[in-house]
Amino acid sequence: MSELQTAEDARLRHLLTLDGLGRARIEALLDHAAQLRSLWRAGAPLPALLDRRTVVNLFFEASTRTRTSFELAARRLGADVVNFDISGSSTSKGETLEDTLATLEAMDADAFVVRHKENGTPARLAAHARRAVVLNAGDGNQAHPTQGLLDLLTLRDHKGRIDGLRVAICGDIRHSRVARSDVHGLRALGAAEIRLCGPAALLPDAAEFADCTLSHDLDATLEGVDAIIMLRIQKERIEHLPGFDETEYFARFGLDRRRLARARSDAIVMHPGPMNRGIEIAADVADGAQSVILEQVANGIFARMAALATLLGRERNG
Ligand code: NCD
Repeated sequence: MSELQTAEDARLRHLLTLDGLGRARIEALLDHAAQLRSLWRAGAPLPALLDRRTVVNLFFEASTRTRTSFELAARRLGADVVNFDISGSSTSKGETLEDTLATLEAMDADAFVVRHKENGTPARLAAHARRAVVLNAGDGNQAHPTQGLLDLLTLRDHKGRIDGLRVAICGDIRHSRVARSDVHGLRALGAAEIRLCGPAALLPDAAEFADCTLSHDLDATLEGVDAIIMLRIQKERIEHLPGFDETEYFARFGLDRRRLARARSDAIVMHPGPMNRGIEIAADVADGAQSVILEQVANGIFARMAALATLLGRERNG
């Protein structure tokens, strides 16, 4: 994926993964996001970087925040946005995704924001696109690069840097594209330690995360960390887990106040949403003073603005 997203002249052509994107590019995206955020918060006009551009949201899986956030990001920079209705479209009449893409490209669509349950669908469409750019809004358990960017931005806001941080990612790592993009981004920006914690059935193969610590012990995992990223139990992807019990899961792997106290006193609590309160996170922690969950949501819009502007803006950067 990482070769496909870079053009021959080294320009960023698509955004499919943070894996291999490199520190300088990721930092440039974060800086751009922070700069657009300052303008927005000061009430200053945003540059119309996406004027006359058309962004198509192609979501083949449920989404609240990612789809809305891409839409607001694109509109606030002056783009037209089409929320493609899959159920009422020719895809349901048997048209291939490639033909759907070509049809919309013929209408001068400039960007496709793609979410799909199968790994590799955004990359497949990127390989097929003639002129349009593709942004991966989450494919299978593989990558969710804009979530990675907004998580890095939120971490950097609170900690001033990513270098040297100790970060715990807890829960259903195996099925999580968020965990993968977070790990790619944290690695690229020099995090000191990435600890992954979850039940055996929900941990990935150790070989995939050779530079991370894997554990089934949440208390030990949280000891002294700077940030905790809790993940949703993906009920729709774990039907094969017989006997999964929510109360038992919370007792072993849920983040409550007692456990949070093991982290550094200035540790932040993150969650990409949607949350299962009382399953992976206690409600009082989700709403507590250390939680930055709604800041993540707010940052999502600026991270997506930066991504869209980098790929499509008049001032394209390398
Ligand atoms: C996640 C997703 O769909 O990848 N949510 C999100 O985009 N913020 C995580 C999840 O579904 O649990």
